[in-house]
Amino acid sequence: MTTSTPSTSRTDDAGRASADGPSTEIRHGGAPEGVDAHDWRRTAVVYQIYPRSFADANGDGIGDLPGITARLGDLADLGVDAVWLSPFYTSPQADAGYDVADYRDVDPLFGTLADFDALLARTHELGMKLVVDLVPNHSSDEHRWFREALAAAPGSPERERYIFRDGSGPDGSLPPNNWPSMFRGPAWTRTTNADGTPGQWYLHLFDTKQPDWNWENPEIREEFLSILRFWLDRGVDGFRVDVANSMIKDQALPDVALDSDGHPAGHFTSPDGESEIEGAPSPYLDLDGVHEIYRSWRAVLDEYTPGRMLVAEAWVQPLSRLALYVRPDEMDQAFNFDFLAAPWNAATLREVISASMANNDSVGAPTTWVLSNHDVVRHATRFGLKRAGGLHAGIRAVDDQPDAELGLRRARAATLLMLALPGSAYLYQGEELGLPEHTDLDDDLRQDPTWWRSGHTEAGRDGCRVPVPWEGDAPGAGFGPTGLTWLPQPAAYARLARDKQRGVPGSTLEMYTAALAARREFQLGAGSLSWESTPGADAVALRNGAIRVVCNTGSTPIPLPAGEVVLASVELPGDGTLPGDAAVWVR
Ligand code: NOJ
Ligand code: CA
Repeated sequence: MTTSTPSTSRTDDAGRASADGPSTEIRHGGAPEGVDAHDWRRTAVVYQIYPRSFADANGDGIGDLPGITARLGDLADLGVDAVWLSPFYTSPQADAGYDVADYRDVDPLFGTLADFDALLARTHELGMKLVVDLVPNHSSDEHRWFREALAAAPGSPERERYIFRDGSGPDGSLPPNNWPSMFRGPAWTRTTNADGTPGQWYLHLFDTKQPDWNWENPEIREEFLSILRFWLDRGVDGFRVDVANSMIKDQALPDVALDSDGHPAGHFTSPDGESEIEGAPSPYLDLDGVHEIYRSWRAVLDEYTPGRMLVAEAWVQPLSRLALYVRPDEMDQAFNFDFLAAPWNAATLREVISASMANNDSVGAPTTWVLSNHDVVRHATRFGLKRAGGLHAGIRAVDDQPDAELGLRRARAATLLMLALPGSAYLYQGEELGLPEHTDLDDDLRQDPTWWRSGHTEAGRDGCRVPVPWEGDAPGAGFGPTGLTWLPQPAAYARLARDKQRGVPGSTLEMYTAALAARREFQLGAGSLSWESTPGADAVALRNGAIRVVCNTGSTPIPLPAGEVVLASVELPGDGTLPGDAAVWVR
């Protein structure tokens, strides 16, 4: 396809558009010397499975490991390189499995260790890698060691595995400090002694049922090295590390600075948002001490061949701090949440992409792009909302409802932009179907602890965790054999089911499949990015190897770049323009 030549503007190193001066090419993202640019740990497209909502084999309405194994072929067809499994370990499910009672076993809800081994074997047979979730900041209160800690005396070795303290105030009836739980409410719960009298308090940065481990205790460090080996010996290819930035706490346990919404210092804000308490250090987020832990983990992973991977879930700002997690002797990747949290705005996107790559270039690491996961409002809905923000808070029926069509249109464009970038990319189950968030779920059905801990002011994350539709005409959209689903699916899910999109030109599923094939063909994951002149302030324009990408975040058409169109997020009008809220790959 031929098109008009783009314009006069260009971008500087921070990706800002500027309209005059000679164009300088800024390249980002190449592998450092001596490093294999094609290593899957730098380039993979990883598909996140949230086990309870992916596929149900035994018909109880909750997804399980055999359900996943039976559907892995669809992921190989989609063209992903790896699968990341959210927690499937023994757990009372107080936080959907992020409350682990036994790190070395499978919860009966999801199956058995033998089911896990079968899943792993099938993943490898299909040529994909398997990454499992590791939750090292806290356990379940039903973990054997926490029960032993409760039964033991203050100051005992059993209590030293967790963070127990006497209360403050004259009679110890107040929490030791003001730290808030990330799920709202205080981060401390008081225990009761065997004789019924009130006892010490324990720290839980998340739910009451998620006591924080004491990482100052060498026994905990040893225990996690052993857990790593347990799964590595079984053959897993890597770990996604939950809240990788919070394991180390300031031992003086000082109060944290809180903003007017009760958000603590170090709280993540969207890249164009402003923190009210900038500069105040957090006593428990992103302390330097965490890095020593990851260096010891790296050493264990390096004992295994082929190479195993660590990816940090760390809501850390600024990007220069995030880059510290991916220094050569630490993790391979860290999720880029600045990218995920960026609003639909070309200038912010350019800045975030450029800054992310520049920061990671400085430590020789790839960037790890992501738009959706099980903790945030799905991007097909987010981009259709009038108000920005509310990433984690969820959407209720009483809230402003999204423009679903606009949201999906922008989501498809955002995805094409993301999949053209060098580095690794993460997809959250169902985004390849263009699934929206469930935005009018019955409040009585909500299960996320955020909902009750916030006193019913924040819906929480259930809306992005709804069971995935496979067959549009089957009960429960084919989630399982009985039609049961642990959360009801929104009406749109039947129409968006996989079988309704497979082989349908222009469907979101076909767009993702084509994008992953082209990403592989043109080796975009191992490529490097250079900025191109932007045909307007609302455009992101870049080149990665043979592919030029233009993404139009505005509503008015802009000129298409010259060349053959490889992929487009919308049907192009054929007049040499790229419509608003659309993206295109051209070679
Ligand atoms: C981050 C996980 O992604 C989230 O789902 C969980 O609630 C918290 N960490 C606590 O483990
Ligand atoms: Ca099941």
